[in-house]
Amino acid sequence: PTYEKTSTSPVNIAVIKYWGKRDTALILPTNSSLSVTLSQEHLRSKTTIRASPDFEKTRLWLNGVEETDLTKNKRLQNCLRETRRLREEHEKKLCKEIGTENVVPLSKYNVHICSENNFPTAAGLASSASGFACLVYTLAQLYELPVSTTELSKIARQGSGSACRSLFGGFVAWEMGSQVDGSDSQAIQIAPKDYWPELEALICVVSDAKKGTSSTEGMQNTFTTSPLLQHRIKHVVPERMKSMTEAILKRDFQQFAEITMRDSNQFHAVCLDTFPPIFYLNDVSRAIIRVITEYNTCSESGKLKAAYTFDAGPNAVIYTLRENVPEIINIIAKFFPGDVENGKEYFTDPYQLFS
Ligand code: DP6
Repeated sequence: PTYEKTSTSPVNIAVIKYWGKRDTALILPTNSSLSVTLSQEHLRSKTTIRASPDFEKTRLWLNGVEETDLTKNKRLQNCLRETRRLREEHEKKLCKEIGTENVVPLSKYNVHICSENNFPTAAGLASSASGFACLVYTLAQLYELPVSTTELSKIARQGSGSACRSLFGGFVAWEMGSQVDGSDSQAIQIAPKDYWPELEALICVVSDAKKGTSSTEGMQNTFTTSPLLQHRIKHVVPERMKSMTEAILKRDFQQFAEITMRDSNQFHAVCLDTFPPIFYLNDVSRAIIRVITEYNTCSESGKLKAAYTFDAGPNAVIYTLRENVPEIINIIAKFFPGDVENGKEYFTDPYQLFS
């Protein structure tokens, strides 16, 4: 017999960035973070997991390519070990309740995992976040684990930190926690998706090439070399978490947009403060920042109408309210008409529209 489950998970884009670990094995962060989970319509991971007593070993396929030697994949092993442990506990309980002969010993079977993204991997588009969230969620479904999503978030966190936030929709905080075993480093939902339905995210794919410095490596270098990161952790993020939560609960786009842009800027500043420095933004990314800044400055109401944010790559995510979407798409299309990958002209003076 074979037991099988399939599920999909969305991408999340942080508005207060996670950058730095106090424990690299357990993936415990040096600051709390907050993100918006995007709809699964365009960007998502999809995972199918099968378990069978006939499988000789556990195997993994990522976008159709098998990853050999899974023993080296510590993050995958963490997620498998933790979900199996919960399944074992569950089986023990079930055996007592309904009799051993009625319980399938899934925790003892090897699994075959097949996972795919419908967007470029490792281009700073949070593929590890949706990928590990999907892995853990699908395992929990397969194993019929009687645990809360927050409990599962602590397992997904051990696959990739940002993955813990993708288990929830809407607005999600990853509370850094203070315990050394990570038992309080978990994700919680601040508000569901339909709490603020007018909020939209536009993704500008500047480049889908694999990034130079991975988040994992980059943040560790920042942690060990950047004095600015220490300032951020102690004196900036705690206040920002509060104001951002408040902005979301009040649906206050001004406050939301300002903190989002400031936090993206500071994240890239700590990258620059890393020694040797890390550059994730390129000329196109910086031009997008100028265009959005100018768009906000020229707005008739004098209010911020859009907020940019960038993760560990050059791609921009622009948060805005639904009414502004057509205008912003037009502006972006006007300034960035070409196809960068094909080497065509892509850069026009971003100030020309506003002068
Ligand atoms: C810039 O979650 O990819 O996107 O925990 O080492 O897997 P690991 O790192 P990862 O880092 C994400 C960094 C970020 C900011 C964020 O999503 O909060």
